[in-house]
Amino acid sequence: MSHRLRWRKSDAELALIKNSVDLDVQAFVKAFQTSRAGATEADVMAQHEAACRIGGADRLAYPSVVGSGAGACVVHYHQNDKMLEDGDLLLMDAGCELNGYVSDITRTWPISGRWTQAQLDVYSVVLEAHDACLRAARVDGETSLMDIHRLSIDVLANGLAKLLPNTSARALIRSGEYAKYYPHSVGHWFGADTHDVPSVAVSTPFERNVAFTIEPGLYFSPHDLDVPADLRGIGVRIEDDCVVDANGAVVALSAALPTDPDAVAALASSTFFRPV
Ligand code: GLY
Ligand code: MN
Ligand code: MN
Repeated sequence: MSHRLRWRKSDAELALIKNSVDLDVQAFVKAFQTSRAGATEADVMAQHEAACRIGGADRLAYPSVVGSGAGACVVHYHQNDKMLEDGDLLLMDAGCELNGYVSDITRTWPISGRWTQAQLDVYSVVLEAHDACLRAARVDGETSLMDIHRLSIDVLANGLAKLLPNTSARALIRSGEYAKYYPHSVGHWFGADTHDVPSVAVSTPFERNVAFTIEPGLYFSPHDLDVPADLRGIGVRIEDDCVVDANGAVVALSAALPTDPDAVAALASSTFFRPV
């Protein structure tokens, strides 16, 4: 019962959520600017956390995931201690808690500031799924987060069928094999907690003032001989914090942090921190 009440936020709560997301976005910019070959996952994690704390966050929302190279394929990677290498991707999933409300953002970027073709191919499929899900979420009395999850499976399976030999989207979905590459759901409610109000079913049609994440991803294990060699060890997730506003439109609160691959690469190439 209290979960149902907590599910729909007041306008004041949405303002607090936006503050938390804005701070996380600023902290991600620091993370992007810290990442370069020779720095470590720990450097990136620490700069993000420092920016959150300096901005007033009470704590992180959850342990940050800062996975470079094949570490990006481990959904709950927390080792966060490898040296960053040119040619690898960095996947960072991190959020903060500010005045009782959390943020939960993921971005994936090339450490060198330049995508390889295989990385860009995978990223483009995940971005297509992310954008399609954002467009499809709406308040119409029917559409639910479960529908958006099904849509993400469709778009990702169609993309996988182009990336992998000898398969089709239909075969990947029917066999459930898509889940080897997309082993999590498209999102969850968030607010006072990262995985907020879990007793509100994802099949519940969206209502105004509910906050949820959209976070499709694709992960290709470095050991999976079923996938082309150039895909092995690539992991990509794009996660935005969203809300259905008072007009029924879906707004990505974290949209200030780029998802466009050129803008992501440009941000990854920028720097604020140089070792002495
Ligand atoms: N960072 C936890 C999640 O995205 O669900
Ligand atoms: Mn999430
Ligand atoms: Mn996350």
